[in-house]
Amino acid sequence: MNYKNVLLAACFTVAGYAQAQKQAPVIVKASQLVSEVQPTMWGVFFEDINLGADGGIYAELIKNRSFEFSKPMMGWQVTQDFFDEGALQVINRLDKNTANPRFLRITKKAADSKLAITNEGFRGMGIKKGLRYDFSFMYRQTAAGIGLSLELLNNEGKTIGTATVSATAVGDGWQKAAVSFQSTDSASKGRLRVNITGSGSMDVDMISMFPSDTWKGRPGGLRADMVQKLADMKPGFIRFPGGCIVEGFDLSQRYQWKNTIGPIEERQLIINRWNFEFPHRSTPDYFQTFGLGFFEYFQLCDDIGATALPILNCGMACQFNTAELVPLDQLDPYIQDALDLIEFANGDVNTVWGKKRAEMGHAAPFHLKMMGVGNENWGPQYLERLQLFTKAIKAKYPDFKIIASSGTDPEGKRFDFLNTELRKMNADVIDEHYYRSPSWFLSNAGRYDNYPRDGAKIFGGEYAGHSDKVVDGKKQNNWQAALAEAAFMTGLERNAAVVHMASYAPLFAHSEGWQWTPDLIWVNNLQSYGTPSYYVQQLYSLNKGTHVVPALLNGEAIKGQDSLYASAVVDKNAKEIIIKLVNASVRPVLKDIVIEAAKLDKNAELTVLGSEELWTVNTFSSPEAVSPKTSQITVSAGNKLSFTAAPYSFSVIKLKMK
Ligand code: AHR
Repeated sequence: MNYKNVLLAACFTVAGYAQAQKQAPVIVKASQLVSEVQPTMWGVFFEDINLGADGGIYAELIKNRSFEFSKPMMGWQVTQDFFDEGALQVINRLDKNTANPRFLRITKKAADSKLAITNEGFRGMGIKKGLRYDFSFMYRQTAAGIGLSLELLNNEGKTIGTATVSATAVGDGWQKAAVSFQSTDSASKGRLRVNITGSGSMDVDMISMFPSDTWKGRPGGLRADMVQKLADMKPGFIRFPGGCIVEGFDLSQRYQWKNTIGPIEERQLIINRWNFEFPHRSTPDYFQTFGLGFFEYFQLCDDIGATALPILNCGMACQFNTAELVPLDQLDPYIQDALDLIEFANGDVNTVWGKKRAEMGHAAPFHLKMMGVGNENWGPQYLERLQLFTKAIKAKYPDFKIIASSGTDPEGKRFDFLNTELRKMNADVIDEHYYRSPSWFLSNAGRYDNYPRDGAKIFGGEYAGHSDKVVDGKKQNNWQAALAEAAFMTGLERNAAVVHMASYAPLFAHSEGWQWTPDLIWVNNLQSYGTPSYYVQQLYSLNKGTHVVPALLNGEAIKGQDSLYASAVVDKNAKEIIIKLVNASVRPVLKDIVIEAAKLDKNAELTVLGSEELWTVNTFSSPEAVSPKTSQITVSAGNKLSFTAAPYSFSVIKLKMK
């Protein structure tokens, strides 16, 4: 332990140093079931921020495939060895196709001239040696004679894959052509060159290329390593699609789920608000193609056994931006969207929206049970709108749960007002967000100990330990933040009677395309890794148990005494007792843990997550610097464990009941 660390630790610990000597034991009353833990307790929150969807989990490699970005040729580089200003024309057929108005008209007069368009991908394309790539595009031509040949290029511009596309149909209608080919090498920043061969004229649109190793091998699907990271957490729910993108900069840019289903060429692209939100991380090429749309979100939930939690716009645009409001007498279409979404998810195949779901390949219902109305909305104007949504939804679906917003912050006048009014309204669930310093998380581990047990339940919908309040991208996913989150989460778990759900935010970030830090999982074009916070979330989720039991020190909940934070659950199905214990101090803490239970197996399992350095981070080259390590420990007579909580550690102790 170096001098610097001791000083830093002095700032970090809130309850002073615990001495490396035995003190009062931790008592776990394993036969006293306090409350149930909801199966939905620990989940994830997905938003298309930081290239989370386009350029991230949505495995499309071509950026601006349908020429709909504000600058229609953004992402495409044109090469030609002849002068013809009219060789490439962007045509807008808005009158005929409002969802996908632009296409590219290619005219090449001489067969022996060179014309190519090269797509740069999202910060390049991640290409894997020997993998099959599936290229497709839509075209229209009145005569054959012009064609496409493909060249996959590596970082240096060397060809690492070739194919020729057969596109010979002639006529007025749009056709689809496809070809698959293998890459001969890997590249972290590949590109695709589309050479125009022959001569003639052809209209092209929806130029697309996917790797074949998508999640479950689905064509046009999701990046498997990123989905696997989620599946490995076994999340109780997925909250989607945001976040601020639900609200939109203005109402025209709000998220509208109906525009995100059906054939992908009919899903109307919009600008992503994270494109321009933060000047220090301006991302002019950030748009939402909705290739990952509401059907795919439901399918993802189904795949990994998570409950779907969609959030819908409540008739208000982001109050930090335009704060546009839909007048109350014009709110009906917004409410109808909510009702239709329930029908889309759950309705019989003979209903209008249930039929659309079935047509997309899922005749069985998705069993949607809850929805959020509004993201971080606030004020009386939010309550008025929420009331109208609630009335209409409950009239048709009385058991359906509605998640209400408590604004942007977990305290202050805005929060107090909403919290009071939402409780008067008998809100089902209140969504609280806390982006706060590590010390806030430590000192708020008891936040819910005195929350009312009846009435509204709590959803910690977005939270993360932030090293400061400045939005400058310097906040890191270090062990200090994760440890404080782990300590705070003992309080969420202890209060599972009132806290029914919680999710860290944001979920994904691309190392070259992020807008917001910290984030749970970092990716580049080929790799992904979990941060220390990821492993904290995973340890809670994989060890959620079925019932909370008391974990006490001197008869009190453990929320900072001796720098310890603890909670305990019983898993009635697995017959396990699981104790979570955080040591937030620089020194080891020795504790006897006495488990008041019938009979325990003497072999127990200890999983420790930790680092002696609070500033340790995981990286692409060292993705498991902070990661769980499991060992066996022994329970001694009297159901006692002599336990040493390592400095700055989060321990999960799993005991088997006989
Ligand atoms: O998680 C990032 C953003 O933080 C979300 O979009 C928003 O809800 C919150 O302000």
